[in-house]
Amino acid sequence: MKAVIPAAGWGVRFLPLTKEQPKEMLPVIDKPVIQYVVEEAVNAGIKDIIIVTGRHKRTIEDHFDRSFELESILKNGNRKALLDSINGLHDLADLHYVRQHEQRGLGDAVYHARHHVGDEPFAVMLGDTIHVSEVPVVKQLMDVHARTGRSVIAAERVAGDKVKDYGVLDAVRLEDRLYEIRDLVEKPSPEEAPSDLCIAGTYVLTPGIFECIEETSPGYNGEVQLTDALRLLQRKEGMLAWEFEGKRYDIGDIPGWLNSQFELALKHPVYGERLRQHVRELNDREHLF
Ligand code: G1P
Repeated sequence: MKAVIPAAGWGVRFLPLTKEQPKEMLPVIDKPVIQYVVEEAVNAGIKDIIIVTGRHKRTIEDHFDRSFELESILKNGNRKALLDSINGLHDLADLHYVRQHEQRGLGDAVYHARHHVGDEPFAVMLGDTIHVSEVPVVKQLMDVHARTGRSVIAAERVAGDKVKDYGVLDAVRLEDRLYEIRDLVEKPSPEEAPSDLCIAGTYVLTPGIFECIEETSPGYNGEVQLTDALRLLQRKEGMLAWEFEGKRYDIGDIPGWLNSQFELALKHPVYGERLRQHVRELNDREHLF
């Protein structure tokens, strides 16, 4: 299976930080966000990945390219651990890039991958979502797709006041974690939200989605929304939701990024203890909590 990683958005929620730097390259401890996404795909057995980029996104390509000069500096300096941290990046997977020239929304970004994807089911993994889970979340969806043959999207329950930031599902429970979707709404007001079960940013879709994107007019925010195209696909083919096992870190805005960094850093095997110690001392001094 191929994966599409849309990474073309402006990242306006991070300005001024993302004026010239892609939000997908924001650091989370020692790696850019998009490296976590690519690694999740690779851990799920996906070797063919298409990243949809745009202007100001060239550092994404550079990050996954070889740097012979840096490699030789690290090699000559005997800095093996650092060398290992960059060594495999260029052949993690077959990475392909396509540019979305005009930022017309998430649905339009996914549409740009249609020639590369062809007539096969494929995964979509948002470039700003990290998971920590035993089984990669995209693999959980691939397994559901393998046994049902249907499009399936990762879902997560979200607190009432937060549903307005998500695509929200109207869905009926079929079995543990598995739901039949009846409708999808992009970023509804809390009163309009059909439930608290939200679209979590990972999808396995049939290629029928491309025709549905063609039929989708701009919606929320004047953009071609993937959720609106999914709505059409659901009507034509039906669609499942999978309440995934694991924890999702949303790097979609500054509070999400800070919280994710902090939580992952506190739990980090190398840096965690020092940070915990620092927070304890800081609290003793300044009584933050
Ligand atoms: C996108 C999708 C939305 C989904 C969310 C998950 O929104 O449009 O349906 O719930 O990702 O993070 P965005 O966060 O890009 O505005």
